Amino acid sequence: ARKLGSKKERTLALIKPDGILKMGEIIDMILGAGLTITKAKMVALTRDQAMDFYIDHHAKPFLHDLVGLIISAPIFAIEILGDEVVSVWKKLMGPTDPSIARSEAPNSIRASFGTDETKNAVHGSDSVALAAQELELFFPSNGECGPTNTAKLTNC
Ligand code: PPS
Repeated sequence: ARKLGSKKERTLALIKPDGILKMGEIIDMILGAGLTITKAKMVALTRDQAMDFYIDHHAKPFLHDLVGLIISAPIFAIEILGDEVVSVWKKLMGPTDPSIARSEAPNSIRASFGTDETKNAVHGSDSVALAAQELELFFPSNGECGPTNTAKLTNC
């Protein structure tokens, strides 16, 4: 039964290259929080795809590091469904900086598995609107692997 006043949402979670060795534990934490994984796949982003994905960070001094990490090895992209999942997943991730996460949210994923502000194991969408946009990049609704086509995951 759904909690009164809660809202089902979808978000994009990424397990970044530095978090891949811990992906089993990270998936356990997602499922353990009562969230539902509705889509998932390994992807190797090209530099162009990474630049598109980080469109809001093009002016940031850390853009080069951010893109460099995300294209350094395959990542695991996950669509998560749950009540208010955008904020629930952000809370599960913990603060961007793992050293802050270790003091303020010691049970969070970044506290457990993050190294620094670039290598912080996971990504999560910042809002419901951004989640829809980011999910479309990883799981295009008009592509071969749209929502009604989950049986054909091979090339998605
Ligand atoms: S911001 O600037 O408020 O948008 O930052 P934030 O939302 O916390 O993080 C966005 C992504 O940028 C990365 N990040 C950094 N990388 C390197 N150095 C510094 N100082 C830094 N600050 C933020 C952070 O890991 C986020 O990456 P993603 O992949 O989106 O989680």
